[in-house]
Amino acid sequence: MTDLSTTMPAGFLWGASTAAHQIEGGNHNSDWWEMEQHVLAEGGGPIQESSGDACDSFHRWPEDMDLLAQLGFTDYRFSIEWARIEPAPGEISHAAIDHYRRMVEGAHERGLRPLVTLHHFTAPRWFAHRGSWYAEDAADRFARYVEAAAPVYADGVDHVCTINEPNMVALFPALVEMLTGDGGATEQLANHGLPEPDAKLTESMIRAHRRAAEAVKSRAPHVRTGWSVAVQAVQAIEGAEQAAKAYGRPRQDVFLEAAHGDDWLGVQTYTRTRIGPDGLAPVPDEVERTLTGWEFYPQALGETLRHVSTVAPDVPLIVTENGIATDDDTRRVAYTAGAVSGMANAMADGVDVRGYFHWSALDNYEWGSFRPTFGLIAVDRTTFARTPRPSAAWLGGGGRDRRWPTA
Ligand code: FCB
Repeated sequence: MTDLSTTMPAGFLWGASTAAHQIEGGNHNSDWWEMEQHVLAEGGGPIQESSGDACDSFHRWPEDMDLLAQLGFTDYRFSIEWARIEPAPGEISHAAIDHYRRMVEGAHERGLRPLVTLHHFTAPRWFAHRGSWYAEDAADRFARYVEAAAPVYADGVDHVCTINEPNMVALFPALVEMLTGDGGATEQLANHGLPEPDAKLTESMIRAHRRAAEAVKSRAPHVRTGWSVAVQAVQAIEGAEQAAKAYGRPRQDVFLEAAHGDDWLGVQTYTRTRIGPDGLAPVPDEVERTLTGWEFYPQALGETLRHVSTVAPDVPLIVTENGIATDDDTRRVAYTAGAVSGMANAMADGVDVRGYFHWSALDNYEWGSFRPTFGLIAVDRTTFARTPRPSAAWLGGGGRDRRWPTA
């Protein structure tokens, strides 16, 4: 009999994730680049530094993929950049499409299966100037880009993620309002909890997802489409069950339910949120925190997978992000071992999980700062030299051996 506790199921995706804006560098035509420059010029906002050259992965992607394959991973999740593919409304850059097409082919040449994300937080400047996701025709514009990008995914790509963390996109304007103190945007979340997503944006994201999934299927019917939702383990304390439900529903469950009918659903989990009768319970001082200020809580992954499987029971799950910002790599191994064992236990109990992608392959631009280092691979900020950490070979070995890695 197969021992589910140690053996990875056949076909299980085992990889690491990145996002274009966070690693490519020079994403000058994107709304995020413009916002970084604006906030830095004004001063005092949540953006500490510009994304600049990031990891220069726009040029160095072959090196990134070489490393991931050598480390033992079988899969790589990366995103393509709308601002490069459609630099002006309706104007398509064939050179940008060729660039991403070469990445898909380059992944296969190295034995990596690509999972391609179409939107990971960033959009072209012109899209932002025309009302962003508030615009009536936002979904049409997104679908037009998705159709134009078909040569990237039409062949050799089994999984496409339409939108990364639509729930974060929908609460982003409220988050920007809230964040005025020091530290990157990621850190601030730890202390304030998440604001509630805007209802109009929530609707807009769901519409955009549906339109994008249809667009992908119309061009490449074989592709399995889904989206990736940020899901924290929301826990009720002191009988605050109703308050915890009320917190979780607009921030995550609505987006999970919208995956009904999709081929898969991405789960992205880092930590837990505890809700008491008076709202968000602060993380106690004595508890270990990561470089983002989030509680070190590896159990979150198993808990969220179980939760998601009750909210979206008919959809297979893929962990598209999970990881830890730390400058102590032994804590990365400890965190990830705990998370993976929580996932394997959930699977043994019947939760349908088809893959695990670690965030992140590389140290990268964490939406305002390079300080939170999530990478399995360290990146020198000026030479761009890549140095895999011990955790990288440890985790990658799971792919090579087809066994869950244990600490
Ligand atoms: C997620 C984002 C990803 C990264 C991690 C830490 O919200 O999708 O880009 O910043 O958090």
